[in-house]
Amino acid sequence: MKVLIFKTAEEVKVQAARQLLMSVQRNPESVLGLATGGTMEDVYAELVKQSHQHDASWAQVTTFNLDEYWGISSDSPASYRTYMNHHLFDHIDVDPGATHIPPSEGDNPEMAAAQYEARISGAGGIDLQLLGIGVNGHIGFNEPTSSLVSKTRLKTLTQSTRDANLRFFDTMEQVPRYALTVGIGTIMASDECLLVATGSSKAPAVQTMIEGPLAASCPASALQMHQKVTVMLDEEAARDLELRSYYQLVHPDGQESAVSDG
Ligand code: PGA
Repeated sequence: MKVLIFKTAEEVKVQAARQLLMSVQRNPESVLGLATGGTMEDVYAELVKQSHQHDASWAQVTTFNLDEYWGISSDSPASYRTYMNHHLFDHIDVDPGATHIPPSEGDNPEMAAAQYEARISGAGGIDLQLLGIGVNGHIGFNEPTSSLVSKTRLKTLTQSTRDANLRFFDTMEQVPRYALTVGIGTIMASDECLLVATGSSKAPAVQTMIEGPLAASCPASALQMHQKVTVMLDEEAARDLELRSYYQLVHPDGQESAVSDG
């Protein structure tokens, strides 16, 4: 894992957006795996800004989002389809038909999940997967104890995840109990991952992900087995890392350095 620690959340969003944009510029037909959540709101605002500054075209890019609530309408204000249109897709020239989000309703979630997984494979897999991390260590909606080789499927959300997402709804009753999420195996099959975490509430999960044992109790720890992961953190999210001075030695203030990553 490449662990980059920046001084501020502001720097994290600039660097994360830069990496995403570079990937699109390097390969205009990129297949990107995208994430939602509070952290990504800032990343997408910056990505829109940089895309305009560099006159970057998204016309041939394909996107697959990690997850979607199950049991709400996709045009509801709280759906991840609405989130993605609002924060990113409406502001760039991506083809709306090439933006994929797992379905949010239907009578056969198992079949919907299998079709979503097949669509990702059909597109040739994910080139770059953007990830956030939950305070409980989840990636996508792969809650603790998720199979580390799981594929897209319906998951029951933990109370901790529902509590964390209450801010996007009016009442707890409205917070969905289920989500369709790509699996950890799906994420692991991507060519490259970029995980972004800011703020002290993420510090314990970040420490366990990077330095803890590989364990289903912290789904993000599966990334220790991925061959190309960059983790971008601000100082608050990096607070609990035991080998923090080592990561700083290799990449001072999040920058590339002459010391090889190994
Ligand atoms: P957050 O969510 O950015 O809203 O903290 C991250 C996640 O749960 O993956």
